[in-house]
Amino acid sequence: MADQDESGAPREFHADVPQATEGFFLKGAAHQDWGIKNRLASIFDPRTGRTVMLAFDHGYFQGPTTGLERIDLSIVPLIPFADTLMLTRGVLRSVIPPTAGAAIVLRASGGPSILKELSDERLALDVEDAVRLNAAALAVQVFVGGAHETQSIHNLTRLVDLGQRFGIPVLAVTAVGKEMVRDAKYLRLATRICAELGAHYVKTYYVAEGFDTVTSCCPVPIVIAGGKKLPELDALRMAHDAVRSGALGVDMGRNIFQSEAPAAMLQAVRAVVHGGETPERAHELFRSLAAAR
Ligand code: R5P
Repeated sequence: MADQDESGAPREFHADVPQATEGFFLKGAAHQDWGIKNRLASIFDPRTGRTVMLAFDHGYFQGPTTGLERIDLSIVPLIPFADTLMLTRGVLRSVIPPTAGAAIVLRASGGPSILKELSDERLALDVEDAVRLNAAALAVQVFVGGAHETQSIHNLTRLVDLGQRFGIPVLAVTAVGKEMVRDAKYLRLATRICAELGAHYVKTYYVAEGFDTVTSCCPVPIVIAGGKKLPELDALRMAHDAVRSGALGVDMGRNIFQSEAPAAMLQAVRAVVHGGETPERAHELFRSLAAAR
């Protein structure tokens, strides 16, 4: 005889329905803990498996670079169009409204300015503070082949240990020194090292030749940095070609905030990354949104 609750209604045990065991949509994350997965799912949209990250952490070594002189005026209006904000905790606390809906990826390494040897970074954030700030991920620069390669790798592995302890994913950012050749061979080396040492996802630069081999060799998601400002159509082509070659999104800064119409550009990048638009159609969208400002 079926159990009844106090009102006399039968209780629904559904003994004949096996409980669903869901997989996880993101490359390489199936065996991570719940907190890591939950945070990754706030960065990568589970509907598309991709992310549009807006990067404006440049000030941590460059100071107020072009387009970031007044983050309250240039970046805050863009927040509704970004899945994720990549920034420093200083700017997060001083400028970004806590009501911002986007996931927060905090810059967690730093030290030298553009006046010094850039690879000489240390961890620059206590993981407790990252928890306090509700970070969705922590970002650390890795200088494979750089003067302080081992130290930057140690920053990554230390951060991964802390991230695993607190359920916070780590984004490894591959920094390519001026003296290094930026080709698929180097990027395969750098991104794979980051993933092997525990990064939950990796940011790197796009190269036209062989980028699909970079993404295929890396067992966790890759997102691309935008790099120097390009004409808008070229930047949209780069985003398009990167996702077609297996990148799971972009982490773009200068190509958004140095655009003549940053909000329009961010929406056009979304159309490519999430909507599967061609660069040409996304550029038409950019032009129409820019004209309607
Ligand atoms: C650079 O070190 C920062 O991590 C930037 O966030 C990154 O380079 C992405 O910005 P951009 O698209 O301007 O290259």
